[in-house]
Amino acid sequence: MTDPSQIAFARFTPVAQALHWITALLVFLTVPLAWVMVNMPSTAHIAGQLFTLHESIGITILMIIVVRLIWRSRHPAPPLPQGFARWDRLAARASHSLLYVILIGMPVSGYLMNATGGFPVGFYWLFNLPGLPKTQELSDFGFQLHVVVGQWLVYALVILHVSATVWHVAVKKDGTLERMLPKQKS
Ligand code: HEM
Ligand code: HEM
Repeated sequence: MTDPSQIAFARFTPVAQALHWITALLVFLTVPLAWVMVNMPSTAHIAGQLFTLHESIGITILMIIVVRLIWRSRHPAPPLPQGFARWDRLAARASHSLLYVILIGMPVSGYLMNATGGFPVGFYWLFNLPGLPKTQELSDFGFQLHVVVGQWLVYALVILHVSATVWHVAVKKDGTLERMLPKQKS
């Protein structure tokens, strides 16, 4: 088996790494926040604040994803390690693309559901995002995308992504995680 400390890893740029870990942190924050807020009595004073926080973090994720994709178009992902089989490459590419799609789809559908449902979308209590004309059908559609389908795609993709990382770290030991970690000074 290859000793990971002996491999020269092609890494993502520090900017791409930082944006990845900030995104991960925000996703792990906003999803449990959503569980808490929807399971609280809507009369609870804090419920409204939690909705605002969930929505603001979601919009922040969208902004970071846009920056990430622009950055990625100018600084492409480093080539995958040699040991990656063909299906492994395909699976990595497909699951990463789907993660980007869902990280855009969730904030957009959340905004659509709220804005066309007549609910203002506040951004960290600083200002409200522009509203949209109230249209119940569009709001219901946003709900279907966000809650009925989207949340399950988020769970499935994140579980798959983290499990794949565990597999690469613990079983394959091929330096995949190091690609997303800063270079250590030797
Ligand atoms: C990446 C960003 C986002 C993720 C991962 C996410 C995730 C979730 C999840 C998992 C739930 C379901 C909770 C449950 O039913 O147990 C939820 C609910 C909700 N989200 Fe998001 N969300 C995101 C962004 C947004 C944004 C930007 C908005 C609004 C602008 C929003 C508004 C809502 C609302 C209002 C609900 C409650 C729906 C209901 O059951 O009535 N979300 N979100
Ligand atoms: C413990 C949590 C996580 C770990 C250990 C982890 C690890 C990694 C690693 C090692 C890579 C590089 C894969 C490669 O070799 O190309 C990667 C890429 C990626 N991760 Fe994560 N990740 C985590 C959480 C997340 C979360 C929560 C999201 C978003 C929901 C996410 C989205 C992505 C995306 C989109 C890429 C592809 C980057 C690109 O090619 O531009 N990750 N992750």
